[in-house]
Amino acid sequence: MIYTLTLNPSIDYVVHLDRFVSGMTNRTTDEEFFIGGKGINVSCILAELGMNSTALGFTAGFVGDAIENGLREMGIHADFIRLREGISRINVKIKAESESEINGQGPHISEEEFARLLSKTDAVREGDTIVLAGSIPKTVSEDAYERILQRIEWRNVRIVVDATKNLLLTCLAYRPFLIKPNRQELSELFGREVSSENDIAYCARELHKKGARNVLVSLGGDGAILFAEDGNVYRSGVVRDRVLGTVGAGDSMVAGFIAGYERTRDYAYSLKLGAACGNATAFSDGLAKKEKINEILGRL
Ligand SMILES: Nc1ncnc2c1ncn2[C@@H]1O[C@H](COP(=O)(O)OP(=O)(O)OP(=O)(O)O)[C@@H](O)[C@H]1O
Ligand SMILES: [Mg+2]
Repeated sequence: MIYTLTLNPSIDYVVHLDRFVSGMTNRTTDEEFFIGGKGINVSCILAELGMNSTALGFTAGFVGDAIENGLREMGIHADFIRLREGISRINVKIKAESESEINGQGPHISEEEFARLLSKTDAVREGDTIVLAGSIPKTVSEDAYERILQRIEWRNVRIVVDATKNLLLTCLAYRPFLIKPNRQELSELFGREVSSENDIAYCARELHKKGARNVLVSLGGDGAILFAEDGNVYRSGVVRDRVLGTVGAGDSMVAGFIAGYERTRDYAYSLKLGAACGNATAFSDGLAKKEKINEILGRL
């Protein structure tokens, strides 16, 4: 089973307006609702690829109901801890002449509720994959990922971490199967501008030494490079098409890579499927659908 963790999921309410005037009543020209969160994005793309996953995390109130029902409709096994108090977030994205976002904080998560999540991870077995993606919300203790990894450490689980800065570094000791920094995240990790391929390769070697097994560096419109555990370096380009939005392209790439590896154990194919999903999301409004992924896979 593939498990994804989304500590602070949301409903993203995207409103389109011709013009947004602060301090006035504005009327939308179009509205959309998406279920948001990096772990959930991974689950959604896995579902498009025909792969089951279990989405873990915390939900609360009526927004929490909407998140769980929406995921179930997509065929994703939603196994969230229901919080006793509060309401899961609704993040507002305003798309007018410019784009603005208002993101909520999310409900408070008590230590006892976090302990319930830890118990849930006892279901994770040898050969399973767990994806820890995104930052830790203020309402959860900073060492949340470490506590989860400590709990499953001895079980030979494939750990995937898509996080930034110190949070990623602290996870490396648990020998994650995959990390996927982008160029900016790599620069933040090493405290300097990382751009040349030689420099990227140096950074990947350092991350291997610290414990990462496969380092997938995504370079947005320039593709991606996989520094694999087998010592080989694999490269992937992009196809040219109209970019509609790159939010979630990285999460899509993570999902495609995991699905590819699950099916074939072949790094070149895993990277290719990852790239197809990343590209397809960049060329889609929201996350990619399976038709788009298959089309891009044929063009890569
Ligand atoms: N403009 C683009 N054109 C084509 N493919 C793209 C583009 N941007 C991203 N991709 C695809 O998606 C992959 C991941 O993108 P990127 O490096 O932007 O991830 P990211 O910054 O982690 O994104 P996020 O965290 O928002 O999900 C790229 O390696 C590429 O395959
Ligand atoms: Mg990312």
